[in-house]
Amino acid sequence: MKIVVTGGLGFIGSHTVVELQNEGFKVIIVDNLSNSKIEVLNQITSITGIKPQFEQFDLLDKERVNTLFNNNKIAGIIHFAASKAVGESVEKPLLYYQNNLGSLLNVLDAMLATKQDHLIFSSSCTVYGQADQMPITENAPRKDAESPYGNTKKIAEDILLDTTNAYKYNAIALRYFNPIGAHPSAKIGELPIGIPQNLIPYVTQTAAGIRKELAVFGADYPTPDGTAIRDYIHVVDLAKAHIVALKRLIEKKNKTNLEFFNIGTGKGSSVLDVIKAFENSTKKKLNYKIVARREGDITEAYADTTLANTELGWKAEKSLENALYDAWQWQLKQ
Ligand code: UFG
Repeated sequence: MKIVVTGGLGFIGSHTVVELQNEGFKVIIVDNLSNSKIEVLNQITSITGIKPQFEQFDLLDKERVNTLFNNNKIAGIIHFAASKAVGESVEKPLLYYQNNLGSLLNVLDAMLATKQDHLIFSSSCTVYGQADQMPITENAPRKDAESPYGNTKKIAEDILLDTTNAYKYNAIALRYFNPIGAHPSAKIGELPIGIPQNLIPYVTQTAAGIRKELAVFGADYPTPDGTAIRDYIHVVDLAKAHIVALKRLIEKKNKTNLEFFNIGTGKGSSVLDVIKAFENSTKKKLNYKIVARREGDITEAYADTTLANTELGWKAEKSLENALYDAWQWQLKQ
């Protein structure tokens, strides 16, 4: 029995493949290499000693998706593949709706046609928008999306709600907070294309001298130090949550056909906290300056992880310092 991991050469996907293989699962990676590199396959092999099966195609190619599901005995699907740049999604909304929703629909069609069960879906804390209360529980209302990207996550959750209800297959949507860090081996990590949009790759590239200085987007938020607060989770912790969720479905421990879990640390850190933690853990000084807020950013988001801790039986183990140290070791390898 094999586990299909779509987007398995991407940042979160590759770390999840490593954890799956460490747990003895056989993995089939499907990736179109649109935002990932083929070298990651060798790196996964080098970490785990096992070369996963790799299928290079686009999930919008329905024929290929159907063939994959018809030709393999599949025990579960972890669906990561998606376009994820918030800014790009505003410029190219059609691309985002087509890629992110079209691929999900093709996977679901093939799953149902071949009577597959067990889907783990990458959702995001973005569905909560600026939540009214911190920490954010899974019952917090979902808000209007700030971007087409965010909207694809929200609509995808609705698609899962309707289809699990109608066809009675089982799925878990994991709502990630801010995934950061890299594998402690420094063999896999985040590979941003061009100028990084996310905080941590920008921090590590600045410390490495690739960027002159980090722009801190806004110090006038209603937070203790004025900078925005997020819940930064180590990508290895996040990867492990997928294995726990998958086992929950395989062992039929889920309570409803579709479950949602927040995957974060439960701890909020400001941008200045991140800078301090980075300097502490790497002993590198970071050039930064405070600039205006970035449009579309929220003030704060951090998870209530009670449900993930008690019901799923998963807890983040690694600290922010640890994640920043691993991200820095990965940067040094680039
Ligand atoms: N930030 C800076 N300078 C930078 C980059 C980011 O100060 O150069 C700040 C942001 O303003 C924000 C924090 O660092 O306060 C984190 O920013 P990221 O871009 O790393 O992460 P976001 O929380 O904005 O984005 C995350 C996910 C997206 C998701 C989004 C919406 O990365 O996929 O949450 O919730 F869409």
